[in-house]
Amino acid sequence: MRVSVPGKLLLFGEHAAVFGYPAVGMALSRGLTVALQPSKTADATSQPLTIEIGDTKEIPDTVIQRFVAHIETVARSFALSPLAGAITVTSELPIGSGFGSSAALCTAIARLLAPNSRDPHTTWRIAHELERFFHGTPSGIDTGLTTLGGVQAFHFEASDAPRRSNPSVDYAPLPATVAVHLPDCVLTVGSIPRERSTKELVALVGEQRRRAPDTVDAMLSQLGALGETLLRGDSTDSADHTVSFGRAASEAQTILRELGVSTSKLDEILEIGVKAGAVGGKLSGAGGGGAFYLVCAGEEEASRVRRGIEPVVTGAGGTVFSVATGR
Ligand code: PMV
Repeated sequence: MRVSVPGKLLLFGEHAAVFGYPAVGMALSRGLTVALQPSKTADATSQPLTIEIGDTKEIPDTVIQRFVAHIETVARSFALSPLAGAITVTSELPIGSGFGSSAALCTAIARLLAPNSRDPHTTWRIAHELERFFHGTPSGIDTGLTTLGGVQAFHFEASDAPRRSNPSVDYAPLPATVAVHLPDCVLTVGSIPRERSTKELVALVGEQRRRAPDTVDAMLSQLGALGETLLRGDSTDSADHTVSFGRAASEAQTILRELGVSTSKLDEILEIGVKAGAVGGKLSGAGGGGAFYLVCAGEEEASRVRRGIEPVVTGAGGTVFSVATGR
């Protein structure tokens, strides 16, 4: 059995979502494929699951073995049959860069565990529980995008406390989603290698919030509110909508930089992109390097921006591509 799942690009609300503020993101046309070769015997205990992730030596065997054990625990908690056989993963997404490779893997495994489930929310819930292996306290937005696809806004119940003070509680609530219309524009998207993991970056923001709750909450709330620019844009002219999208992205980037989750290389790339003609841009995902996007009015601007940033991005060991929106 083969399952293909899209990657994702967070547009607004990363880090803010962890504390219950809204977020917006889109599924990407590139993604990840998982193929399961079932074992010949029906006895899952004598033929344990193996996972081979092609083209990457970055993931140690011990981590894969612990993930296999986590899959078994999650399957049991949903009363699903355990998987047995050999899983091969092939990815068009750079691993661990903010394009949702771990979320896409969790969605794909959720589909293998519950192949007959017709309810995307059931798949999302299983994927979300699987993703807790990678992030501890994921907000659910990454697996929401890789499971539901399209462009989605996520809303959590209003709360001034971290949503999951007790991460051991099973079946953490998932956010509500609303489909979003993006302006007709082109995003120049790329990523550079990460200096820190999502877990470390989420912990860094949590630590700052403990030290200065009022200041950091105001920043997180503003990050959430900036995503609303996309929701408000339906009735306005697409060009205006693109401009407000780009400006909101740059404003969010300023806050993310103040929170310490950007890097000087990301800031440099975004600055070059804006000088080359992008309306604005920001990091996407947890930061510390990783994914970013620049909002461009059309294909012409996007190729100028791409040409401008490519030497720095590839020099840093990263990649660039384009995504057309709103069509
Ligand atoms: O790991 P990434 O880059 O896909 O980022 C996840 C987004 C965060 O808001 C930082 C964490 C979360 O669970 O929402």
